[in-house]
Amino acid sequence: MFEETLRVVVRRRELQGQGVLVLDLAPADGGELPPFEAGAHVDLHLGEGLVRQYSLCGDPADRQVYRLGILRDPKSRGGSIAAHERLTEGSVVEIGVPRNLFPLEAGARHSILVGGGIGVTPMIAMAHALAARAADFALHYCGRSQASCAFLGELAAAPFSARVHTHFDDGAVEQRLNLVEVLTAADAGTHLYVCGPSGFMDWVIAEAGRLGLPAGQIHKEYFQVEAPAAASKAFDVALKKSGKTVHVAENQSIVEALAGVGIKIKVSCEQGVCGTCLCNVLDGTPDHRDVFLTDEEKADNDQILLCCSRALSDTLVLDL
Ligand code: FES
Repeated sequence: MFEETLRVVVRRRELQGQGVLVLDLAPADGGELPPFEAGAHVDLHLGEGLVRQYSLCGDPADRQVYRLGILRDPKSRGGSIAAHERLTEGSVVEIGVPRNLFPLEAGARHSILVGGGIGVTPMIAMAHALAARAADFALHYCGRSQASCAFLGELAAAPFSARVHTHFDDGAVEQRLNLVEVLTAADAGTHLYVCGPSGFMDWVIAEAGRLGLPAGQIHKEYFQVEAPAAASKAFDVALKKSGKTVHVAENQSIVEALAGVGIKIKVSCEQGVCGTCLCNVLDGTPDHRDVFLTDEEKADNDQILLCCSRALSDTLVLDL
C-alpha cells in the first residue's frame, strides 16, 4: 500500500514569510504529473529513511508542478530541517503519489476554508478547485503577522483573491477572525475545513460545534500532534499470525517493541497523523492517541495506529 513513488526535480525554491520553504516539483523525466485532488498530500522522501507528509498547495489543474510549503520547525524531528537544508533547485527527490485524506465535500453549498499559519497549504489547493467549479467559498488565512505568512503574494494575485481574508494576530482587532460572524451567517449546506496548529484547530472546531454546525460538516487535517503525552502503562501485544507475544514497556511505542524482536512496521509521520502504520485489532482495547482515525472508528476499537497508540487492556491481539 502507498508504495508507488515519483522522481521529481526541484524546479523552483523560494523562502517566503518566516521560515517557509516553497518548492515547485516537476517530473524528473519530463511529461506530466499525476492529477491530484484538492486536500491531498504527498510523502516526501528525504533520505536515510526520513519520510514526511506535506500538503499540495498548488492549483490541482496544473499538471506541470506540485507546490509544497514547508515550515522550518525548530522542534523538527528532522523532516523540515532536512528539506530546508538539502533541497535546492535541481535536487532530484522521490515523493509518493498524492493521497487525499482531506477531500472537499462535493455537495457543499458554501465552503469556509480556515488555515492557521502553514495550515493554509491545503486550503490554497481547495480554493483553486472551488473557484474552478464556480463554487461559493471563503478562505480565511490566520497568521502571527503579515511578515510571518507565506503565499500572500500569490493569493493576492489569484483569480479568487476577493474571497481571501487575512487575519493577523498583531493587527487591528477588527481584522481578526470572527468565527461567530462567519459561522452564524452559514446556511445548512455549509462545510467548514480547518488546518493549522492543534490549539488553533481545537478552537475553530469547538466554536463551530457551539454555533451549531454538525460534526459531519466540520473537516479537519492535523499536521502535527501537540497533545501532551498521557500517562503510559506497559502492556503486551499478541500477534495472531506469527503466534508471538511482545511486551511493550511504558516508555516504548508498539513499533519500537516490535522492532526489538525483528518485526519491522512501515512508518512515516510517527505521530499518528498519516495512517501508514494502521493495523487491525482482533481483541483487547486500544488507547487511541492518534488524529488519523475518526471518533467513530476509534469507538469501534478494531484498528490501531502502532506508532503512537497504546492499550487500555493488559493485552492487545493484533492481526500481525
Ligand atoms: S506512521 Fe503515521 S500514523 Fe503511524
